[in-house]
Amino acid sequence: ATYRFNHKNGMSQDMKSLKSEDHPLLDESKPFKKLLIDWFSENAKDYPWRTTSDPYEILVSEIMLQQTQVATVLDRGFYRRWLEAFPDFKKLADAEEVEVLRQWEGLGYYSRARNLHKLAKVVVYDMGNQFPKDPKAIETLPGVGRYTAGAVASFAFDLPVPAVDANIARVIARLFDFQERIDSSSGQKKIWAWATDLVPSSGGRIWNSALMELGQTLCGPRKTSCDECPIAASCQCVDPLDLPIKKLKPKATSVDEHVILNVINGNILLQKETGSRRKGMWKLPLRDENEMVKDNLIAVHKYGITRYKVSMHIYKFEDQNIHENEKWFSLDEIDLLPIPSPYRRALRLLENHFNQ
Ligand code: ADE
Repeated sequence: ATYRFNHKNGMSQDMKSLKSEDHPLLDESKPFKKLLIDWFSENAKDYPWRTTSDPYEILVSEIMLQQTQVATVLDRGFYRRWLEAFPDFKKLADAEEVEVLRQWEGLGYYSRARNLHKLAKVVVYDMGNQFPKDPKAIETLPGVGRYTAGAVASFAFDLPVPAVDANIARVIARLFDFQERIDSSSGQKKIWAWATDLVPSSGGRIWNSALMELGQTLCGPRKTSCDECPIAASCQCVDPLDLPIKKLKPKATSVDEHVILNVINGNILLQKETGSRRKGMWKLPLRDENEMVKDNLIAVHKYGITRYKVSMHIYKFEDQNIHENEKWFSLDEIDLLPIPSPYRRALRLLENHFNQ
């Protein structure tokens, strides 16, 4: 089936025509949908993005939650501070990139922040500040994939569209006892088709929220509480902890990096990131190991990023010569710069070396 754009109500006619094969669970008369929704209504956590239907506020939460735990986003104040700094698409569109990266600092995966910034400019300056409703149109925006588009369309506009994140994929794989890999393209197709069939036509907000909540609580990746599950009677799977099936992840690779702490007369040398991951962020300048004198090693910090275990070797190194993409900053300016967390932590711990 194909999607047809219909900008009038944001929903295309054949959006729900992606039926997978018939399955007893997909019979609308089955009471299990009501059981799940009733369970959710009584157990829902009151996340701030659940008490708004503002697409901007919902989009921000979804982008933050893509690779970051709810606890980090909420308890460490990232979501609140972001909405205070950039309360709407216009404020974000008109912000400076360094300020955007500074607000994202600590969340990692900074392309999310840069894409959100770009997205705000597109919405404000190319779309007349009208955020689109059709999930296919939302999906064309920078940094937005099928999940995020479905999440915003269902949570903000209550459209009956699926939004399959890792939690929902796990719940669906277990519900249908899906014995194939869910991270292959055919597995993804199957899971999304079931998710599409399951969404009640009355609206996707509460349904997707309920499925997600089930995956975050009773139907977890390493722990299940099937005896408390409202839809256990409809669940087809026998061994929930064996599902979903995924390709094994490669083991973490250890790498070393060598950086310098070059502080002269109250100024510190920093290097601007040019690679895609942390572009626009500032960090301690990288050097070749063989340029470094072992005696000047002052600390080794370990941190993890994606599938790497990095050992950051920090050398005291005084040199007026600087490389491309490097710049001197006064020590007072550091607080205002966007600096990736591992380097920020290193700088805090090395403050006592600044004045020697
Ligand atoms: N993770 C991703 N999106 C979420 C949401 N809307 N609520 C709770 N956890 C989430």
